[in-house]
Amino acid sequence: MPGRANIHNLNGTPRNGAAGSVAAIYNQAGDGYAAYADGDPEQLFVFDGLHAYADRYVWRLLDAKLTELRSSGQTSISILDAGCGPGTWLRRLVTRAHALGFTKITARGFDIAQAQIERARLLSRNLSMLPGARLEFDVADLSGPLPEADKSVDLALCLYSVLSHLQIATLPQIAAELARVTSGHFITTVRPVGSPPSVFVEPIEKANHFRQDNARDRCEIELCDGRRFTLNIHLFTVSELRRYFADCFEIETLRGLDLFHSRFTPDARWNPKSLFLADDELSDELSRIEEVYASSPEFIEHAAHLLLVARRRVAVEPFNRRAASDSRSR
Ligand SMILES: C[S@@+](CC[C@H](N)C(=O)[O-])C[C@H]1O[C@@H](n2cnc3c(N)ncnc32)[C@H](O)[C@@H]1O
Repeated sequence: MPGRANIHNLNGTPRNGAAGSVAAIYNQAGDGYAAYADGDPEQLFVFDGLHAYADRYVWRLLDAKLTELRSSGQTSISILDAGCGPGTWLRRLVTRAHALGFTKITARGFDIAQAQIERARLLSRNLSMLPGARLEFDVADLSGPLPEADKSVDLALCLYSVLSHLQIATLPQIAAELARVTSGHFITTVRPVGSPPSVFVEPIEKANHFRQDNARDRCEIELCDGRRFTLNIHLFTVSELRRYFADCFEIETLRGLDLFHSRFTPDARWNPKSLFLADDELSDELSRIEEVYASSPEFIEHAAHLLLVARRRVAVEPFNRRAASDSRSR
């Protein structure tokens, strides 16, 4: 089969199953994945790529969480990025945390694809030298236990469809493990059931053919360059995403991201040049209607991404113990 993905473990032995093929596919995508997903790796805060609206929204949210923590007087921060790909989000966060005056920054990204981790390490060399910052990238599988201690992570991320690539039956256990290590917020985005198609490692127009089998969570993809692969992809309903995380976290936000913006992006292969003029008024209006419909039941599952923001559950003391301690303190 042309361009068939080679599936290997780190020690060189073949890796079986869905996780192995996901790793092989993102390994093969190599440096091209970062360029496709994030644009110029040197322009960390220029959000003009394919997912520009969603990226800007997610960044504003993350920036607000960092700022809140710093304003509360905290000077050290721990960030975990599960399925970090080329590490772009972690590089943004470490850069911003440093600028906000955090003096101790511990950041770890991990991904099942070794080529993505190598790219992340290369791109973050300068940041690792920031005083007080420890930025690490490891090859690891989110389906396994996390090495972080209980409640040690202020901000845990799992952005852009990492969860869509996992075996859905493992999600309760993964959610519980993420909740164990998170002391602050957990933020994820996944692909909803009504989202526009994606082949994940390349723009959709570079696919000759793709077909998603929703009963088996498998997508067969053939790219124009001859690569063919089958990728594990689960498309989420709103209620199942909520269900997987509501047991372990308080859900702060669950909304759609990018209902309209991508639809209004002109295509050089089709639209006349006149449509390419930047129109701030249109952009503002699109953002306004995104806000109106982002959480509406008819629209939310048609967004490009579902965004879930969750925070650590505050343990409620059992009533008997609380009553006993109240009566002792009287
Ligand atoms: C669409 S990319 C998103 C990368 C990154 N989060 C971002 O937003 O740029 C999905 C990533 O999930 C990783 N991934 C998939 N399954 C994984 C698993 N079981 N454990 C760790 N990473 C995984 C893939 O290798 C890939 O890099």
